[in-house]
Amino acid sequence: MTNKTSIQGSWASRWIFILAATGSAVGLGNIWKFPYITGENGGGAFVLVYLACILLVGIPIMMAEVFIGRRARKNPINALSDVAEESDSSKKWGLIGVMGMLSGVLIFSFYSVVGGWVLHYIKAMLTGEMNGISSDNAGAAFGALLADPATLLGWHTLFSIMTVMVVAAGINKGIETATRIMMPALFALLIILLGYAMTTDSFAQGWNFMFEFDFGKLTWNATLIALGHSFFTLSLGMGTIMAYGSYMTKDASIGKTVLAIGALDTLVALVAGLAIFPIIFSNGMDPAAGPGLMFISLPVAFGQMPFGQLFGVLFFVLVGVAAWTSAISLLEPTVAFLVERFKLKRVTASIGLGIVVWGLGIACLGSFSFMSDVTLFGKNTFDFLDYITANIMLPLGGILIALFAGWIVKDKFAKDELAVSDTVYKLWNFSMKFTAPIAVAVVLYFLINPMK
Ligand code: PHE
Repeated sequence: MTNKTSIQGSWASRWIFILAATGSAVGLGNIWKFPYITGENGGGAFVLVYLACILLVGIPIMMAEVFIGRRARKNPINALSDVAEESDSSKKWGLIGVMGMLSGVLIFSFYSVVGGWVLHYIKAMLTGEMNGISSDNAGAAFGALLADPATLLGWHTLFSIMTVMVVAAGINKGIETATRIMMPALFALLIILLGYAMTTDSFAQGWNFMFEFDFGKLTWNATLIALGHSFFTLSLGMGTIMAYGSYMTKDASIGKTVLAIGALDTLVALVAGLAIFPIIFSNGMDPAAGPGLMFISLPVAFGQMPFGQLFGVLFFVLVGVAAWTSAISLLEPTVAFLVERFKLKRVTASIGLGIVVWGLGIACLGSFSFMSDVTLFGKNTFDFLDYITANIMLPLGGILIALFAGWIVKDKFAKDELAVSDTVYKLWNFSMKFTAPIAVAVVLYFLINPMK
């Protein structure tokens, strides 16, 4: 099973795979979500739980996804069913891939709306309309944007087209080229912004906020959010990393590669927090401002700082680049499936899927205006999709992948593909069989039955 290559192509090198997967992992999750959920959940203790989830659950599951994809060299549905068949099990395991594709489509629909907000803010920063803006006015400006479906539709459409264009161009010409240009730019921008935050007098306060552990503030709900976020931020539980893994060459070591991706993703989240919180604190604002943290508090802060406009533009370009490389990876598993299963041309599959997710996105962007009355479990469409994908579907997909890799795949195949030392293999296998599924199950249980 191991010497084939995917019909979609393969990455030029191990580093390209690392960067492409990091491009998928580093996204709105790191720069928009992570700082605000850390703020909402009290800082330090939340960060520590998040780090534990990445190490104990995220990294081992990522190894499983890469090895399943690479072993079969097919889209996630077929990869899971081929690997199951090789281990004399039911091809129905491929159904995990179906749920994964659904997650990808649902995530894209709100992701692209936020991607659209980011594009809007690049423009707003460039034209200087945020210079010297007050908190109230920044809040009002963000509120006005949300209440304006026509403008949102324009940006959401542009973001969707940008994404579809790269996916349609294919693994090498599209995703790989985008990776080569965008990832170095992303790292450079992040370092520049960190340097900028260090010049403020609140760097120490930002640092303490993130790294001082106060477990009194930790709740089950916060633990669930940390666990859900570790799946979201590493792009796990939905087949993205499996699809990217299917384009990886056989000679590269999975263990080291996955560690590099996990470390880079975590580093970017922590650095993004260290760049954002000092700016927030130095302007006397509230770190627990919620989703508006990046779109309200930061523009106010930039608007008051020396060279704020320049760094504001750079910041939103950074977020835009990160969102773009992730959005691409949300579509890739389904496009690969459509091409392999229905023999569609990649361009046709990408545009067709693009139209579907673009349409779903309209329901999300309408959540703040013409669809604000439509609620599911008390949440609007946008919040509902964010909540069920990140906190339920991805962790559930992750558990199933872990159980599959731990209990169904025969040791000899997993060992052969992972090619790690015996100790690492045992640790990995234990995580697949027990740690990962139990951790996720316990947290989901307490979510459904909150403790009094
Ligand atoms: N990891 C991306 C982020 O942090 C989101 C994502 C999730 C991308 C799942 C692909 C698959 O923003």
